[in-house]
This record gives sequence, C-alpha cells and structure tokens, in this order.
Amino acid sequence: MFDRHLSLVHQAKGVLRQNWTGSSTKPAPRLYPHQWSWDSAFIAMGYAHYDQARAMQELRSLFRGQWENGLLPHIVFRPGLVGAYFPGPDYWQAERSPDAPQAVATSGIIQPPVHATAALHIYRYASDPAQALAFLQDLFPQLVAWHGYLYRERDRDKDGLVYVRHPWESGQDNSPLWDAAMARMDLTQDDLPAYQRVDIHEVSMDNRPSNSDYDRYVYLLVQAREATYNEAQLQTQCPFMVQDVLFNTLLVQANRDLAAIAQLLHHDPAPFEAWANTTAIALNQKLWNPELGLYQNYDLVAEELIPTAVAAGFSPLYGRISSAAQAAHLVTTLLAPSFTVSHRWGVPTCSRADAAFCPNRYWRGPVWINLNWLLSQGLRHYGYEAEAQWLRQCSIDLVERSGFYEYFNPDTGKGLGSANFSWTAALLLDLLMQDPAIARYEREYAAERQFA
Ligand code: SER
Repeated sequence: MFDRHLSLVHQAKGVLRQNWTGSSTKPAPRLYPHQWSWDSAFIAMGYAHYDQARAMQELRSLFRGQWENGLLPHIVFRPGLVGAYFPGPDYWQAERSPDAPQAVATSGIIQPPVHATAALHIYRYASDPAQALAFLQDLFPQLVAWHGYLYRERDRDKDGLVYVRHPWESGQDNSPLWDAAMARMDLTQDDLPAYQRVDIHEVSMDNRPSNSDYDRYVYLLVQAREATYNEAQLQTQCPFMVQDVLFNTLLVQANRDLAAIAQLLHHDPAPFEAWANTTAIALNQKLWNPELGLYQNYDLVAEELIPTAVAAGFSPLYGRISSAAQAAHLVTTLLAPSFTVSHRWGVPTCSRADAAFCPNRYWRGPVWINLNWLLSQGLRHYGYEAEAQWLRQCSIDLVERSGFYEYFNPDTGKGLGSANFSWTAALLLDLLMQDPAIARYEREYAAERQFA
C-alpha cells in the first residue's frame, strides 16, 4: 500500500507540473485554461506539502486580480488565449467597473473564500517559517479586504450570511439547488446575445450543464456587466440571490484562519473571530433544517428555504458550526441510502432521492474530491473517525481506479469531466500526506534532492 500511495503522490505532482503555466496553475489542461479562484486555493494547499515557493506564487498571482473594493474575481485571465474559454475577458468587460484592476483581465464574479485557509495551510507546512510569515504579512491586507468586501457588499440583510448572485459564484454551477431560481428566469431570444459554448468541445455534453443553464449563466453575466458590477444596483434587480451553505461555511472557516493569521502577525484577531461567530450563528438559525437533519440554502428573491438536499448541506461539520446533536443528525442523514448507497466512492453531490439526481452531470450527482476532502475533515472534528477514514479512503480508491478526474460517477467510480484535474491532484496529495510515513518519506526525499 505504501508504494501505491507513494506512486499516487508522484502522479499528483505530475498533474500539477503539467498544468503549471509559469505563473499559476490551470485547473485543467484545456477545459479551464486560465486561473480560477477557489481552484488556486485548493491547489496551493497541495503545493504547500512539497513546493512552498509555488504555493505562495499561486495565491500571489491570483490576488493580482483583486479589485479595489476587495472583490476577488473567480477568474484571472491569462493574456493571449483568445477563444480558448467562454466567456472570455471581452465578454466580461470588467473594466466597466471603476474597481477592476487596469493591468489584469478578470471576470466580475467571485468564488468561495478558501484563501485564508490556504494561506494558513502554507504556513503550517512551511520548512522556512520566517519566509512563510513574510508571505502572510504581504497577503494579510488583501485577505482582510476580500472578507471585508463580502460583509460590506454581499450581506444584504446584515444577518451575517453573504449571498451569491450567479451559480458560478457558488462553485456548484448546475446543482439542483438553483433549479427553481433558474426556472423563474423566463428568457426569450431578445434577452440574450449570441454566444458559443467552448466547454462542450472538450467534455461530453451529458457531463456538463445544459444549454438552458448556460443561457441563464450568460443572462446573469450580461446583467451584471450592464450594471457596471455595481452591487447596490444589482441588489435591486438581480433575479438570482442565494445564501449558500457551502460558501458561508467556508467563510466561517476562512475567518477563523484569518484570525489565526492575525495572531501570528500580532494583529487583533477579534474582528475576524466576530465575523466567524456571526456567520456560524446565522447558519444555525436560518439554514438548519431539524426535520431533515441537513442545512439548506435560502433564496433571497423568493424569500424561502430551498428544499433540495445536497452534499454541501453537511459542510457545516467542516466549519465546526454544528452542535454535537446536530452533528449526530447530519451523520445519520449522510449515511442513509439517499446519500451513500454503495459506501464505496464517497458522497454524491446531490441526494439520490431527488428527482434531479443525475450521476454523470457535473454538480447534479457526481462525487467531487473537494467535498469528500472537506467532509472527511468535518467528520473527524466531531469524533467520527471511522467515517472520516472511510471518506479519505474513498477518494484515494477513486483516483487509483480512474485517474485524476474532475468528478466521478458515484455508482461506478468512472472518471468524468476533464482528466488531469489540478484540485483532485492537490487535495489527494493533502490526504495522502496525512499518513506520517508518506510525509516523512517525502520530506527526506526532498531533502536528499536538495543536496544531490
Ligand atoms: N465552472 C465554470 C465553468 O465550467 C466557470 O467558473 O466554466
């Protein structure tokens, strides 16, 4: 087993090496040819184990795209790749906002805030703590501005929960979570400019969001662009505004990690702890469903909870947001057949009991390594060690069986979407390095190489 795991570590590094562009890491070789925000945070957590310089550069390079108002864009575009991805910079026209950076082309939306967590992860594994501290010192104001943006511009009701205003902002693009809100957008031809998808030339249409979803993605993009990305204006007109469990949970953890960074730098951690507590309390008060034993999203336009049961509904375990009783209830729900029928490959993104469940279609059923990774940690936080180990093993088995795919069929373990997906490699590396024997061997091997 040791040799097999070691081989996976080296294969994972190979995937990251292949996707390195010289200044950042592509999430996938062709499907995602630029730099994506939460991908880069996960990727940096993988590099943290063996290449600190690259881990730091990954985040630095992403933050080059940060806007004046603190918005951290979900894509930082690489120059000169015209037509390689839709929608490209010409479509976003971020420069319409006075806050967008001059020298870097970006999108105009965000993704889940995993960056303070990644930065602290880099420090934790640093072989040169002084260098990592200097890195944290540089990044700290940018992280504070990023979280500050979220609470200033995205907490519409000042209830401690921030909203997403585009499905892409959640990272769970075509989750059934959004179906009702998307269906409310009754579009005609006149509402949409002409556009051409590029993604379906790379990956089977059956594994990707539908054309009807894409129409709505484009519609929301154009609306934000026309509003010059002015958040106050968008709050009055955007037909899609949702308080998402996963996004807010990751924000709670990121606030705690920002507080830890503040402490390391001898700054006051209290404001970040206060943000974490406010959002954690709000998640429990507003998004916890005691009948289902699961957290649910809140639709700010329809003013109601979204009844869809998804794997992200367990994520507050990762953020240590739930009480012990809530955790027990969540674990019962997680281990029921609607989520984990085979107990073999991990947690499908959407409940099997939901009519929308679709085992091959992106965020509508497939297993994703980042959710397995964070739920495994969440289970461990509450003492469910056997279940945590089981999820860790599922991820290792999946990649060993199928390769470093973007997502996986929850019944067969078949790899889906793009091959050689960077965060699958990075997070698998993180899981494998939890084995002290692997970590020790890798450390010694790295030391040997340094002197070779
Ligand atoms: N995940 C989106 C895509 O499929 C963009 O963020 O392109």
